[in-house]
Amino acid sequence: AFEGLRDRFGRVATDLRLSLTDKCNLRCSYCMPEEGLAWLSKQAVLSAEEIVRIVGIGVDRLGVRELRLTGGEPLVRADVVEIVAALRAAHPDLPIALTTNAVGLTAKAAPLKAAGLTRINISLDTLHPETFAQLTRRPFFDRVLAGIEAADAAELGPIKINAVLMRGINDGDGAELLEWCLERGYELRFIEQMPLDADHGWTREGMITASEIRDRLSEGFTLSPDPRERDGAPAERFEVRPRNAAAGDPPLGTVGIIASVTEPFCADCKRTRITAEGKVMSCLFSREEVDLRDLLRGGADDDEIAARWQDAMWVKPRAHGMGHVGLGAPDFVQPDRSMSAIGG
Ligand code: GTP
Ligand code: 5AD
Ligand code: SF4
Repeated sequence: AFEGLRDRFGRVATDLRLSLTDKCNLRCSYCMPEEGLAWLSKQAVLSAEEIVRIVGIGVDRLGVRELRLTGGEPLVRADVVEIVAALRAAHPDLPIALTTNAVGLTAKAAPLKAAGLTRINISLDTLHPETFAQLTRRPFFDRVLAGIEAADAAELGPIKINAVLMRGINDGDGAELLEWCLERGYELRFIEQMPLDADHGWTREGMITASEIRDRLSEGFTLSPDPRERDGAPAERFEVRPRNAAAGDPPLGTVGIIASVTEPFCADCKRTRITAEGKVMSCLFSREEVDLRDLLRGGADDDEIAARWQDAMWVKPRAHGMGHVGLGAPDFVQPDRSMSAIGG
């Protein structure tokens, strides 16, 4: 009998983040180098059938209750709609979400919804096309906006927008992004930049902290803690009201702040990850990767695969170790893999 994906510190992973590809059509400086990375070969990446099998083992034997498809950029995978449809057919009640940059979303939003995708999170760091081009090194701002509208029209909501603020690039764009999301009913989350960029250019000083974000937003809005249970979610949520709101006015909406570095939520982490090439990563920052692909391709049965997955999770680190001091922390080493290669 399997008791789920437990670790030494008593956490149980029930959220699976599975990467469909390491490739991406943008080059966000906080993630990828200008020239891209050495992409995995097609053979190295899990096939649609292998993905369905792994998810099945997770859901049926290991207590996985939520699935998120990530990348790289998951929509660059040609069979993404078929994968969602096959997962939905196998698991009628499983929440299946997707995190995307929305570049390829205009054509795929409605088919993804029809295939059974539950909801979508979209990365958008600025509303200025030139800033977008500078940050992502690609001129696709208009496609992204059209993709977001298509997701909205296809009812892939509640839509969450992820924004990473970079000092000197888009750090002045927060209030504007928030207003834009509030008008449309999207939940904006600001994310502290983590040291997961392939260029290893992250610095503690360069990072815009959660406290800085709250201070800046407070110039235009009143933020108050969202009374809803956080329940292990990475974002701390706030109700947003106009700066001059009267007591008792209804909020305009909510904003989230994901303070992975300065206010780590590792103690409540419920995540297990599978990379595009079928390796278990117990944490974004774990040093070990445990391969499931050789078992899958070598004819192992579901019990053997489940057992190796469990073993991989058992040794999940207690925390990433950056604490409040960032890279200077003695027990923190920046991983070799970038965010795109781990799976956002
Ligand atoms: P929902 O809240 O369920 O919508 O999903 P999510 O926020 O977990 O998913 P999303 O892919 O949108 O991730 C948002 C951000 O959460 C990422 O950009 C990361 O900054 C952060 N994040 C995701 N996974 C981890 C993790 O394992 N550890 C830490 N510290 N941060 C993570
Ligand atoms: N730090 C924090 N968030 C990152 N993302 C990519 N790289 C980083 C990083 N170094 C975010 C993207 C996307 C999500 C999956 O991860 O903005 O929204
Ligand atoms: Fe691509 Fe996402 Fe990395 Fe940007 S953050 S380069 S969109 S994988």
